[in-house]
Amino acid sequence: MFQLYYKTPKDWAQVVLSDFNRFLQDHAAAEKKASGMAVSMFSHYPDKPLLVEAMVNLALEEMNHFRQVIRIMHERGIYQAPDEKDPYIHALRKLIRRGPEEYLIDRLLTAAIIEARGCERFGLVAEALPAGSLQTFYKVITESEARHHELFVELALEYFPREAVESRLAHLLNEEARIIAALPYRPALH
Ligand SMILES: [Fe+2]
Ligand SMILES: [Fe+2]
Repeated sequence: MFQLYYKTPKDWAQVVLSDFNRFLQDHAAAEKKASGMAVSMFSHYPDKPLLVEAMVNLALEEMNHFRQVIRIMHERGIYQAPDEKDPYIHALRKLIRRGPEEYLIDRLLTAAIIEARGCERFGLVAEALPAGSLQTFYKVITESEARHHELFVELALEYFPREAVESRLAHLLNEEARIIAALPYRPALH
């Protein structure tokens, strides 16, 4: 539906593979936060049925991803790490403007970009992993993040004119490219 402005180099996935247990801990936290974000969206907009229903489904789907990731972790004998701030998410959230209209469009479009970045990076992880059940799991995760990014753009188009969505999206994609390019590689999604 849209292209990210910064392409993650393949070396990034090697850093992930170098400490996959830590990556799993970060991935679990990301799924948990994605589910929480969907809950906060449907709580904030009770008068938008389309958004509420989409966000309830998303919260369940992300929580199901969380369940799958912690199952993999427990099989490996590792546990959730203490919650910490994700520098990428933190920087993106700072771009969200105040004002009811601005806040909604920015939340939807930053969420779309976060999902698109997740899709790109989980795809790189799937590519780098050897064939097997873990690789299959990351392929499935990649496909669901692709659907999620489309969902957020569709919701934005539901509530705002196409030109407004496109111009704000272009601006946010520019900012996101600058943010992600400056972050060091870690065994984490961002
Ligand atoms: Fe997810
Ligand atoms: Fe997602």
